[in-house]
Amino acid sequence: MKKQYLVLMGIIAIISIYFLVGFISGDYFKIDGTIAKTDSTWVGPSIYLDNSTIGEERELVIYGQDLIAHTSTYLGPKGTVAQITNGMNCQNCHLQAGAKAWGNNYAAVFSTYPKFRDRSGQIESIYKRVADCMERSLNGTAVDSNSREFKAIYAYIKWLGQDVEKGSKPHGSGIEKLAFLDRAADPKKGQLVYTAQCQSCHGAKGEGQLTLDELEYAYPPLWGANSYNDGAGLFRVSNFAGYVKNNMPYLLTSHDAPKLTNEECWDVAAYVNSQSRPHKDQSMDWPKKDKKPIDFAFGPYADSFPESQHKFGPYKPIKKYYTK
Ligand code: HEC
Ligand code: HEC
Repeated sequence: MKKQYLVLMGIIAIISIYFLVGFISGDYFKIDGTIAKTDSTWVGPSIYLDNSTIGEERELVIYGQDLIAHTSTYLGPKGTVAQITNGMNCQNCHLQAGAKAWGNNYAAVFSTYPKFRDRSGQIESIYKRVADCMERSLNGTAVDSNSREFKAIYAYIKWLGQDVEKGSKPHGSGIEKLAFLDRAADPKKGQLVYTAQCQSCHGAKGEGQLTLDELEYAYPPLWGANSYNDGAGLFRVSNFAGYVKNNMPYLLTSHDAPKLTNEECWDVAAYVNSQSRPHKDQSMDWPKKDKKPIDFAFGPYADSFPESQHKFGPYKPIKKYYTK
């Protein structure tokens, strides 16, 4: 009698383990190889598990990863290599050194650059795109394209995107595009979100908080003199809202279980982006007016909607104007 129970329990245990392993490895979400590839969210490679990247190339990849994660230590106000950026790290916005799904990652950079971009009206290289973030998001000066620093960042971005097919963008790459609201994003409502959900880390004046050694930020600034300038990608509320939706409050949210509603994300984006920050001359950007993103805050436009509506919405009428 007892022996039979043991055998039965043994069989049940084996079956359970079989299903558990399948579940953890994600087998049940795959139908066949090709569908799994487009359906599953991108996962970046790990340098620890990679023993085929060797020698100088490996050193560059590792240095590149460190430059993304601790940019300020090398290039910030007290940088060991140069003092040319505002103290933020690339990783503050490109989470886990650009390897996090939905965290504004670099999954599709190597696969899609060089590419034509409407902001400059030119075909842009990876160097140009990296330089853009240094001049706008880091409100500073770009490193030279021949520097060891740029070579390392390039090697790292290439290595990160090594498994991504040329021309394709994997699921979870970059920033999620949130649905437009029916109303304008509201800075007043956003302030309430900010006070309740963001201020504890980013500070009452959005000033952030430095680490004890003051080499980088524990909590990066969201506005003020040390934050991104008004030419940066995050100054567009759609980018800000999409970034926050999947990633903030930090570590308390995720793509599968976001803490904020879409409305809260749009509103807090409007609040943060109505505070003061460094200005960048963007008169040469968007040489074709009708190619400006609809949430670009500065005219002139190829439509007659006011600047205020471009900055905070409502966006549906503008979208409609351009799709008819
Ligand atoms: C303040 C936030 C912020 C910081 C800091 C920042 N970036 Fe970015 N970066 C963005 C945003 C937002 C975008 C996307 C803009 C868009 O889609 O219009 C972007 C886009 C990029 C892209 C293109 C991604 C793609 O898929 O096309 C690259 C490459 C990049 N950044 C590199 C860097 C590097 C390297 C650094 C550090 C030197 C850096 N960024 C620092 C916000 C930031
Ligand atoms: C628990 C602390 C914490 C809370 C709460 C929090 N953040 Fe963050 N936030 C961070 C940290 C840490 C980073 C940088 C992550 C990194 O470098 O890996 C960050 C980065 C950011 C960035 C990109 C970098 C920058 O400074 O522009 C934005 C934008 C942002 N947070 C917005 C928000 C908003 C909006 C809220 C409220 C809805 C919020 N955060 C709540 C800790 C927090």
